[in-house]
Amino acid sequence: MESQMKGRVSYRPMLTEDLDRVMRNERTGYAFPWAESHMDSCLQGKDHCWVIELDSNIVGHGVSSVILDEGHILNICIAHAWQSQGLGGGLLTFMLEDLTRQGAHSVFLEVRESNLAARHLYENHGFKQIGLRKGYYPAGRIREDAIVMQRLPTIETR
Ligand SMILES: CC(C)(COP(=O)(O)OP(=O)(O)OC[C@H]1O[C@@H](n2cnc3c(N)ncnc32)[C@H](O)[C@@H]1OP(=O)(O)O)[C@@H](O)C(=O)NCCC(=O)NCCS
Repeated sequence: MESQMKGRVSYRPMLTEDLDRVMRNERTGYAFPWAESHMDSCLQGKDHCWVIELDSNIVGHGVSSVILDEGHILNICIAHAWQSQGLGGGLLTFMLEDLTRQGAHSVFLEVRESNLAARHLYENHGFKQIGLRKGYYPAGRIREDAIVMQRLPTIETR
């Protein structure tokens, strides 16, 4: 998506003092938000937690991790008012570059089957479905399948 944003977009590590803003964005941006305790434990642990700012205002966040040569996208969220304007694509590109720098060869993620916006975003960034976890996510009174996706490097190195 061609960004129509007016303003300066930047990325930086998430700080503890960002947590309130991040959780507000998480709750307005996503129908199935993480618990604050989950976000906080990622922030205090070894995961890579980022925020995306537009003119110094936090408009989204992402969490990733590296285990050996595998990268994992654990969370990516843009505040509701700022969705569909290219910011999620920019944040995902930034996070993939960071994972590559940290030694990730391939990158994995799980996404709800019904989350067409996120699936579209991931497919546009080279992710392909490699599996399905039946009933993986809670979805009200029922459960929803997770699509497991993997992104391999564009150029294989041996
Ligand atoms: C998924 C999410 C991060 C995408 O961020 P975004 O800033 O809205 O997306 P972008 O504007 O960068 O668009 C990325 C692509 O997704 C597509 N897209 C965006 N919203 C869409 C929608 N509602 N339906 C279908 N496709 C959509 C865009 O068309 C674009 O594709 P293109 O490059 O071919 O034009 C954002 O919608 C979000 O935060 N959703 C809630 C949290 C969430 O679902 N996270 C993922 C959990 S696995």
